[in-house]
Amino acid sequence: MFYNLTCVNEVSRIENLEKLILKTCILKTGKSINWYKMDWKDCWEKGNMPWHIEAVHPKFLLHVDKITEKKNNAKILFPLCGKAVEMFYLAKKGHTIVGVEYIEIAVKQFFDENKLSYETKPVPEIDGDVYENEANNIKIYCGDYFKFSQTLETNFDGVWDRGGLEAVPIDQRGKYTDVMKSVMKRGAPCVTEVPDRPVGEGPPFNLTADEITRLYDLKTPPEKVDYDPASESLKSMNVDGMIYYYYKINS
Ligand SMILES: C[S@@+](CC[C@H](N)C(=O)[O-])C[C@H]1O[C@@H](n2cnc3c(N)ncnc32)[C@H](O)[C@@H]1O
Repeated sequence: MFYNLTCVNEVSRIENLEKLILKTCILKTGKSINWYKMDWKDCWEKGNMPWHIEAVHPKFLLHVDKITEKKNNAKILFPLCGKAVEMFYLAKKGHTIVGVEYIEIAVKQFFDENKLSYETKPVPEIDGDVYENEANNIKIYCGDYFKFSQTLETNFDGVWDRGGLEAVPIDQRGKYTDVMKSVMKRGAPCVTEVPDRPVGEGPPFNLTADEITRLYDLKTPPEKVDYDPASESLKSMNVDGMIYYYYKINS
């Protein structure tokens, strides 16, 4: 009897949690998007990308030396890269860039908007293709990040993780950081953006320093290097009061 009661309470607790998680938010366009069951393809097809910014991210500019460690030709990973302009910014400075993004529209827009030609090759491991501009040392793997591995790329000197770890479903975070750890050089830096917001809302989903410590097997907590309130463009994602924190992780 007691057991059944516990189960009923547990079920309603989970249902309530699901309702919270499945909360929808209304974008500026008036469209309602269920952010937990995020349909990234739909976002790209309809041009609903409130996370995308045309100018190089101000926090990236402030902390870029922590990512490259002032090396001349660092190999930098952009997981879940979208069409982040920071990739071309670093390529122009002589670094080698690898992005991973599974929506083809995003990848093509990146190359087209930066007026970069590209060649494509099939990559069966990720059920996709790699788009490459050899002259500028930029490659974007157009496929599932969770299938990306050290058989494709390894020895990354640094990572800029904005809109990656914070965007994936919470139950996939461990898998996400496992991929990251397997392709990075040991001890290489990753600067990551994570939001502080109520649990259950998102993406982007709340992430604490403790959780980062656990996910990256760190001996000491990650260094908090900066913070920022959510930008105006993100206000359309129901993120009022949300603060972004920027951590430097050396895993
Ligand atoms: C919030 S956006 C961040 C984009 C980019 N990092 C930026 O700063 O503009 C997340 C991106 O991840 C992509 N994405 C989501 N899940 C993915 C996966 N499993 N593999 C590859 N790309 C994925 C989405 O299509 C989307 O473009």
